[in-house]
Amino acid sequence: MYQLRGSLESLDDLTPALWDAGCTGMEERGDTLIAYFIDRCELPFDGAWLEADDTDWLAAYRASLHPVTIGRVTINPTGAALNVSADQIVIDLEPGLAFGTGQHETTRLAIDALQRLALRGKRVLDVGAGSGILGIVAEKLGAIVIGVDNDPQTVPVALENARRNASSASFQAGTLEAITETFDVLVCNLFAELHDALMPQYRLHLEPDGTLLLTGILAGTGQADAGERITWDTSSGRESLVTAALTREGLRLMRREQAGDWVLLEAKRSNA
Ligand SMILES: C[S@@+](CC[C@H](N)C(=O)[O-])C[C@H]1O[C@@H](n2cnc3c(N)ncnc32)[C@H](O)[C@@H]1O
Repeated sequence: MYQLRGSLESLDDLTPALWDAGCTGMEERGDTLIAYFIDRCELPFDGAWLEADDTDWLAAYRASLHPVTIGRVTINPTGAALNVSADQIVIDLEPGLAFGTGQHETTRLAIDALQRLALRGKRVLDVGAGSGILGIVAEKLGAIVIGVDNDPQTVPVALENARRNASSASFQAGTLEAITETFDVLVCNLFAELHDALMPQYRLHLEPDGTLLLTGILAGTGQADAGERITWDTSSGRESLVTAALTREGLRLMRREQAGDWVLLEAKRSNA
């Protein structure tokens, strides 16, 4: 296991890189963040590798999860019965070693954005499905859903979550290149550099009036004025990389949402 000084919140900027390096779970212990890996690897951070102790770290990780409500959707990773109103969509989620519990801002931004779209009967592709959370939410909102993830270990987790929630969302291992169909909506919680690289593929997989939801993007720097209103310099951070790629591919930016340091961009494929 890899130990870094800080918390999930203070090290939020580093966590995507830890997941990408093969991290299988994280937990806070005192003033440190513990990231679990199957094998040691090179990490460009100021942390230390330690031998895992006998702690059941997966149980510890699970114990740190709590139900999250985003609009009409409640994600429940605890397994406990919840007392919610009848119109609430409750998704029971067992993330296992996959990302996607609803605790992270990026997942919550995407769930919020999915609820703003009229998804009934629409075809949705969940790119980087992880636990299957976004695909299952989209299916519960009426969409027909396929999810892909290039980490084959996530697929059984996502399929089991679909089964647990009586969802018809289907999940497969692979990347966008393996998918030949087009979709009304693509929802992609990855990171800015990958969005930049995948942008031509996103455009190819969108219907002419399709919607692209991109998150996992670090925001530009905020500047508070005297009235404490914050304006965002979107040319800093990773956001400008993604907005430039949208322009390059002829995709129109329609909306920007931010939670903490994270941004979601909603774009449309132009009809031209
Ligand atoms: C940040 S997690 C998002 C999980 C979930 N969709 C959510 O919003 O919580 C990103 C996921 O994308 C997958 N991924 C990374 N690069 C990918 C690629 N090129 N194609 C497909 N999936 C990819 C990772 O394996 C990981 O499961």
